[in-house]
Amino acid sequence: MLPKKNVVKIKSFFVIINLTLNVVNIYYIVLVMTFKYEVEILIQENEIKERIESLSNEINYFYKNSKKLLVVGLLRGSFVFIADLARTIKIPVEIDFMTVSSYGNAMSSSQNVRILSDLNTDIKNVDVLLVEDIVDTGHTLNQVIKLLNGRKPNSLEICCLLNKSSRRETEINLKWSGFDIPDEFVVGYGIDYAQNNRNLPYIGKVVRKN
Ligand code: IMP
Ligand code: MG
Repeated sequence: MLPKKNVVKIKSFFVIINLTLNVVNIYYIVLVMTFKYEVEILIQENEIKERIESLSNEINYFYKNSKKLLVVGLLRGSFVFIADLARTIKIPVEIDFMTVSSYGNAMSSSQNVRILSDLNTDIKNVDVLLVEDIVDTGHTLNQVIKLLNGRKPNSLEICCLLNKSSRRETEINLKWSGFDIPDEFVVGYGIDYAQNNRNLPYIGKVVRKN
């Protein structure tokens, strides 16, 4: 048994930590709420459409002899991309989703990736095409790839819509990538900033408004 004095000290320590975390959290929420911005178009709707058509030609060819193809979408950012891409795939395909935590409400990535919801499909001996909205530092995909490879799929390839290659911190083998984009925070076409702008039909960059 610890002396009562020490128990009180430990309790106060955790109370202070908790309070500090709450203050930091509130600070970020206020920061996000007061951040005024506009969205400047970076990639037009028709450019996305054309790029998806050419990606899907390659994908259809690559998987032409596949016995079972599963497209795995990482939610929520990839939901528009996956819907458009899936409709151009001509071979039989199943679709499933995973949710992994990424930025929360902030604009910078964390190396701590959490699986919030997993696949419903057994991927053993299956050809898996992992579809992601943006590859930035690469940490998110790195962890998801490790997890999925552990389940022994027949193959695992990645198709991302946007690639911020200049920001990469860990090597990721992207079989297909829609557009290489500069180090800008982007929204639209399923991609959000603090849960907003997913409905924009184009990809735009977030620009601070004074
Ligand atoms: P990574 O782990 O650094 O590669 O981050 C990838 C994840 O961060 C993506 O799945 C996106 O959800 C998110 N992300 C990266 N860049 C942006 C951006 O510019 N806008 C919105 N989300 C982004
Ligand atoms: Mg994402």
